[in-house]
Amino acid sequence: MRLSSVFLTASTVVSQAVASPVLKRDTEATDRANAVKQAFQIAWDGYYAHAFPHDELHPVDNGYDDNYDGWGASAVDAISTAAIMGNAQVVDQILNYIATIDFTKSNETTISLFETTIRYLGGLLAGYDLLAGPAANLVSDKSLVDALLTQAQSLADSLSYAFETPSGVPYNNLLLNSRGNDGSTTNGLATTGSLVLEWTRLSDLTGNKTYGEIAQKAESYLLNPQPAWTQPFPGLVGSNINISNGQFVDDYVTWNGGDDSFYEYLIKFFVYSPSRFSEYRDRWLAAANSTLEYLLSHPVPQPDLTFVNIWDNGTLISSSGHLTGFIGGNFLLAGSVLDRQDLIDAGLAFTDSWYATYNATATKIGPEGFAWDEAGVPSDQKTFYQVNGFYITSADYVLRPEVMESYYYAYRVTGDEKYRDWAWDAFVAINSTTHVGSGYSGIENVNVAGGDGFDNEQETFLFAEVLKYAYMIHADDADWQVKANGKNKFVFNTEAHPVLITS
Ligand SMILES: *[C@@H]1O[C@H](CO)[C@@H](O)[C@H](O)[C@H]1NC(C)=O
Ligand SMILES: *[C@@H]1O[C@H](CO)[C@@H](O)[C@H](O)[C@H]1NC(C)=O
Ligand SMILES: *[C@@H]1O[C@H](CO)[C@@H](O)[C@H](O)[C@H]1NC(C)=O
Ligand SMILES: *[C@@H]1O[C@H](CO)[C@@H](O)[C@H](O)[C@H]1NC(C)=O
Ligand SMILES: *[C@@H]1O[C@H](CO)[C@@H](O)[C@H](O)[C@H]1NC(C)=O
Ligand SMILES: *[C@@H]1O[C@H](CO)[C@@H](O)[C@H](O)[C@H]1NC(C)=O
Ligand SMILES: *[C@@H]1O[C@H](CO)[C@@H](O)[C@H](O)[C@H]1NC(C)=O
Repeated sequence: MRLSSVFLTASTVVSQAVASPVLKRDTEATDRANAVKQAFQIAWDGYYAHAFPHDELHPVDNGYDDNYDGWGASAVDAISTAAIMGNAQVVDQILNYIATIDFTKSNETTISLFETTIRYLGGLLAGYDLLAGPAANLVSDKSLVDALLTQAQSLADSLSYAFETPSGVPYNNLLLNSRGNDGSTTNGLATTGSLVLEWTRLSDLTGNKTYGEIAQKAESYLLNPQPAWTQPFPGLVGSNINISNGQFVDDYVTWNGGDDSFYEYLIKFFVYSPSRFSEYRDRWLAAANSTLEYLLSHPVPQPDLTFVNIWDNGTLISSSGHLTGFIGGNFLLAGSVLDRQDLIDAGLAFTDSWYATYNATATKIGPEGFAWDEAGVPSDQKTFYQVNGFYITSADYVLRPEVMESYYYAYRVTGDEKYRDWAWDAFVAINSTTHVGSGYSGIENVNVAGGDGFDNEQETFLFAEVLKYAYMIHADDADWQVKANGKNKFVFNTEAHPVLITS
């Protein structure tokens, strides 16, 4: 049980004399967790007042958009965080709304199967797993929780036509109302390969095996890549797949946006059900081994940093970004679950390196894109590059979570308080720099104090991911928390929605 801050204030005189570092850290963590809850409430109140039930708030002018299908993406993406924070009022607001959504139609012209899966399907399933499970005390009307599952089924039933292609590799860009698609001939690695967790969870919860089967059929082409040249290193594959025959069409290898969550889900799908999905673990291990063997890169001026190169048909490109910052957490999850210290060490090296991209800037927030190629240093960043070991290629920050996410895994796996301090520093920086008008907004330049202007977009993953990881790293242990010994009860999808693990 925690000491309340009231108790500690009253005993300050005594506790200074016999200060227990553990208790002090404990109280500090509670205060920090409460500050993150407050930021969540600010973001939610702005959204609820000005944008709900549209997808996203424009905090500068109290406007909104429907960039993610127009079904209230922020609300659905926020439900699992509200549940984990114990915010019964927001859970109630979202539950009452979700029961009313018509997932069979979308006013938006094209919707993304991938984005809809990770945000909406993931949000509905995690909401169900939490609110029918360890957070059930937050809800009085159980029928609203059951509606999460029937709505998830309704959503998947309206999307499932996307998999009706000659190969079973789905179209990603859908015109839902006409059951159409945008005519693409290929689908991307991440958009094809980040569906199995959510669709299989839905099968396991409903007993309808089709959802998992169609997602795993699409993924089968990624596990057994053809033709051979599109897998230049064991486990590392190209970036685009032919929808008509399931073959890869290139051998461009990255862990960056577009490819990232394919690798992420290989180990997570194994964690979800080890007895059924050991092949996914083997493919993740192959990819991880090849990454450590062939893609690691240490900037010349700061050789202690460890980033990941792109492999482009024999040429290595030293360029990465904020999105790739999840890689530390992904290696840490694998290392803890597989009991492999070498993978944990690699995960920590990545985490420390992405921390450096935060620590280097004027706002203490890391940039969207950066590089460390000696030949490409812009003349106005020569000093910055020498001091920090990288230079900025895209200076904006759009409320991305990946670096906070890796701090979270690093803290949960090692218990090292350093990662809590880094998470807190990042939270304080994000909370002060991106707060504007009725909520939080992306900023234009992380290396200008104040951020140099706002993009007027409160992304849904502020709710789903940034504030969830910032909260959980400081919160008590709970069923949904990642366990240092790898014996997890939940596994987080790529939008940070916790999915209940099946034994
Ligand atoms: C979609 O369009 C219909 C008809 O124009 C409108 O009644 C409905 O409110 C719209 N739904 C959303 C979520 O914008
Ligand atoms: C199972 O899911 C598939 C895919 O959405 C759907 O076509 C089928 O009708 C479902 N079966 C039942 C019994 O609901
Ligand atoms: C995809 O495969 C089909 C059938 O084999 C082929 O006709 C088409 O050219 C391929 N498309 C691409 C982009 O490789
Ligand atoms: C990759 O796997 C090979 C073969 O098992 C092993 O010899 C090598 O040490 C591994 N490399 C790394 C970096 O783990
Ligand atoms: C890869 O490089 C080789 C030369 O090294 C070239 O012949 C080939 O066309 C390149 N492939 C692609 C897909 O660019
Ligand atoms: C963060 O940057 C400062 C310089 O601004 C440096 O002194 C410090 O060592 C860095 N922190 C870490 C942990 O690398
Ligand atoms: C976060 O930002 C809000 C709004 O500006 C402010 O009220 C709050 O004190 C900030 N929290 C911290 C810990 O700085």
